Amino acid sequence: MLKESIMNDNNHSQIRLTIIGITGRMGRAVAMQARSSFTITGAIASDSSRYIGKTLSEVGISPLQTVIEGPEAIRDVASRSDAVISFTNPEAEVKNAKKLSEAGVATLIGTTGFNEEQRALLIKTLSNLPLLISPNFSLGATALLVLSRASASMLTDFDFSIVEMHHSAKKDSPSGTARQIAEAVMEKRGYNSIINGRSGISLRKQEEMEVLSVRGGGNPGLHTVIANGQYEYIRLEHQVLSRDAFAAGALHAAKWLVKKEPGVYSMEDVLGF
Ligand SMILES: NC(=O)c1ccc[n+]([C@@H]2O[C@H](COP(=O)([O-])OP(=O)(O)OC[C@H]3O[C@@H](n4cnc5c(N)ncnc54)[C@H](OP(=O)(O)O)[C@@H]3O)[C@@H](O)[C@H]2O)c1
Repeated sequence: MLKESIMNDNNHSQIRLTIIGITGRMGRAVAMQARSSFTITGAIASDSSRYIGKTLSEVGISPLQTVIEGPEAIRDVASRSDAVISFTNPEAEVKNAKKLSEAGVATLIGTTGFNEEQRALLIKTLSNLPLLISPNFSLGATALLVLSRASASMLTDFDFSIVEMHHSAKKDSPSGTARQIAEAVMEKRGYNSIINGRSGISLRKQEEMEVLSVRGGGNPGLHTVIANGQYEYIRLEHQVLSRDAFAAGALHAAKWLVKKEPGVYSMEDVLGF
């Protein structure tokens, strides 16, 4: 149910949003897009940020007077919001999770690069709230995931590969999105191993998923899923044109998530698949 606090807010249609990682590439993109339907009531950067204590307006992120605070303020700030969107790094997410759990509001985590243990810990710690952890908030990439899974169900003799390309500052590889699509394809095709590149004599094994990463320049994210048959192939491709695609998708998902009961949700749930 939509929280009363949202309905009773002065701007009755506004969702109060806390952004964690506000000074980063994604945090800024979300803040830029959160102009209508949202009010940024909380802004969190790392402990060592030179922006702590400054307002969003002072640092040119948004015209709002919301003060940027460090992670120790997460519980207080988030509990006065309706939703939290967080784009940081895996270690920071794990560190911040207890405070988020105590705040108890709908939480969207876009950070990528979690290992299994970190992911499981996050899901356990945040089990008391509506939670959406997605390596790709873009609506198009979610469609790519759905289409890839459907293709893997249909094309049972085809060999599936993924090529992903991102800007040179991206830390983790393969991308979280490529890993997510690979998992969906592997489940349908019964693949049991992943190869991330070839060199020398390296024949493709029958139950092997191929995932290749390219890094360079400023590309915000390209994912190509290739299904090779003996006499034909299909190629499904999604290119993000700017980070605004992730930001807009995260905000779209936040509007959906604030109305949900506690539980773990996916972007496929948001799009009704
Ligand atoms: N799900 C998606 O759709 C999607 C799309 C794009 C990117 N991503 C992922 O999102 C993550 C962030 O990407 P980015 O490009 O925005 O990175 P970035 O530019 O490096 O920004 C990271 C932000 O996290 C902050 N931070 C670091 N430690 C923190 C802590 N303990 N508490 C609170 N904030 C902390 C940093 O603050 P300081 O500047 O003070 O260090 C910075 O604001 C990456 O994992 C990336 O792969 C996901």
